[in-house]
Amino acid sequence: MNGSALNGLPVDHIAIAVSDLESAAALYERVTGAGSSPVEELPAQGVRVCFVGALELLEPLTEESTVARFIEKKGGGLHHVAYRTDDIRGELSRLADAGFQLIDREPRPGAGGHSVAFLHPKSTGGVLIELVQHGE
Ligand code: CO
Repeated sequence: MNGSALNGLPVDHIAIAVSDLESAAALYERVTGAGSSPVEELPAQGVRVCFVGALELLEPLTEESTVARFIEKKGGGLHHVAYRTDDIRGELSRLADAGFQLIDREPRPGAGGHSVAFLHPKSTGGVLIELVQHGE
């Protein structure tokens, strides 16, 4: 279960697309006083990732990466909002039934070895939404 029905899914992290991971991490460390997690490369998703507190910083690994195209189009900034669930498959089918368009019908491996899946921003008012299940 995902906590009480009233509270719904908690926010797991907010992700920001950046063109320089190390300097963005240093900036958010200065802003928040938090330390950075080790940098992780996720070639399947075309990104380098690190976390500063609840902030996920995404730097494109290649020019073809969707994050590279996002930065080209929008100049970086807020990339997605991630909600945590203990039942990612159940949530995907609930959201599909509710009419949301899924980018991932099946969860895939994300940062930290977690399972992740994305909803298409076309069906969420323009905001990319991620579901994340820790562990597995
Ligand atoms: Co994320």
